[in-house]
Amino acid sequence: MCSAFARLKRHLAAALACLLLLAAVALAVTTANSAQQQSRTSSSGFLALDQLAQTNQAPQEAPTGFDNQSNGFVESQVHSQDQAAFDEVEGIEDGLGPVFNAQACRECHQTPTTGGVSQVTELRVGRVNRFGQFENPDVTIGDGSTVIANRSLINDRGICPSGEFPDIEVQEHVPDHMNVRTLRSSLNTLGDGFVEAIASTTLLQFANKQCGEFGDGVCGQAIFVPVAEAPGQMRVARFGWKNQHASLLSFSADAYLNEMGITSTLQPEDVTKLCDTVPDPENTAEDGDVADIDRFARFMRATKAPARDANLASTFDARLGEQLFDKIGCDTCHVPKVVTAPAGSVINGGSFIVPDALGNKIIHPFSDFLLHNVGTGDGIVQNGGPLTALKLRTPPLWGVRTRSRFMHDHSALTFNEAILRHGGEASSAVRRYRFLRDEERQQLITFLKSL
Ligand code: HEC
Ligand code: HEC
Repeated sequence: MCSAFARLKRHLAAALACLLLLAAVALAVTTANSAQQQSRTSSSGFLALDQLAQTNQAPQEAPTGFDNQSNGFVESQVHSQDQAAFDEVEGIEDGLGPVFNAQACRECHQTPTTGGVSQVTELRVGRVNRFGQFENPDVTIGDGSTVIANRSLINDRGICPSGEFPDIEVQEHVPDHMNVRTLRSSLNTLGDGFVEAIASTTLLQFANKQCGEFGDGVCGQAIFVPVAEAPGQMRVARFGWKNQHASLLSFSADAYLNEMGITSTLQPEDVTKLCDTVPDPENTAEDGDVADIDRFARFMRATKAPARDANLASTFDARLGEQLFDKIGCDTCHVPKVVTAPAGSVINGGSFIVPDALGNKIIHPFSDFLLHNVGTGDGIVQNGGPLTALKLRTPPLWGVRTRSRFMHDHSALTFNEAILRHGGEASSAVRRYRFLRDEERQQLITFLKSL
């Protein structure tokens, strides 16, 4: 495997990365049988590590804010146009559906502004068979005429019956005997350009460090996933509750198809042709000067990271709470500080070069972007293989105060409940939380409310 990397003619960094990778491969499940919301990518590929540029400069704090301004990646006018695409409500004539969840990215990514989070959840189901393996459902629609095969996502909306097709029933329903079922909440995308710019080796290092520290039971798993825009290339995943994707362009194409039913050059086929009148791919650069998926990705890449509640963050309680957060080990998974790859680094399987605006930046995502079993796991397997059925990616806590409900399935309504829901790998941290004095627990929660 190392010779494969040597072929890439990288220098010392590559050699180091290679060693790290070999160490991490034991943890990384590299099969990619079904991507995020089921993209049709190949089931294997080349494990591409990012080609890191060198820098002597000290890293700078990334810009933060909910002000709809560009972080410097694009001009403000371009950013406004891209935001308009993210906000745009699509109709049937644009390719919406046949099955879908909502009409605009913004419908589910909106608070406190475009790109943020929302209360919207999605439905996923499946079945554990008698051999203990997870199976995706085959969903029958059209009064039994058509099957949407091998897909755990159940779309909540459909475009038919309609005036044009009064007799076609396209709505998906959960098949009988689905013994795995979960809701999955929307995620914040503000600041995600910085997350995309984190070197894969940085995430592998988090995993190595955690798994090497015996005693606390924390051992995050990194998985490699296909990069849709770099065919055959796999990169360390970081986006989605199950770490379905490594690149924002891949996620955009996936979301456009699976949330809105709109096909693109990267996801060129609708999940069903029933009452579909718009030829695939439904949106390309010809429909505008820039294809929508490119606008969505560029929009997210240009967003500022979520800003803290500065008033609350400066209080004595929040500052003490932050120390307690670190002291009891929440910071092992919810990593407070990460530095992005230097500008000029080549990432996403060779398809994207980290620009100045995103490179060598200090961010405070409060996540290691690794999969963990904290006892809440949903049972769904996507592209991480069977070992990931009960795992979820540590959700970044930046901007968590903009959420009204917590955890992947919204099963916690207060911060205290969210913390107490953690078990599994987080058991030691939660035990220490329980041992805190009431006043200290409040301070820790004040800190969370400031994020
Ligand atoms: C119906 C609601 C809905 C719509 C519409 C929607 N999303 Fe999402 N989005 C979600 C949910 C739910 C998740 C978490 C999904 C998961 O992990 O399975 C998510 C996750 C994401 C993420 C991962 C963020 C992270 O940091 O991990 C990105 C990026 C994203 N969406 C982009 C988009 C784009 C671009 C569009 C428009 C094409 C879009 N979404 C439309 C609900 C939606
Ligand atoms: C072993 C890794 C790990 C540790 C340690 C850990 N967490 Fe988490 N945390 C997670 C994962 C994974 C989830 C998502 C679980 C889910 O959605 O079911 C999560 C979810 C959360 C959420 C909800 C976020 C949201 O967007 O809904 C909060 C708040 C949180 N953790 C705070 C804490 C605090 C405070 C501590 C320390 C007491 C802590 N966590 C320790 C991994 C960890």
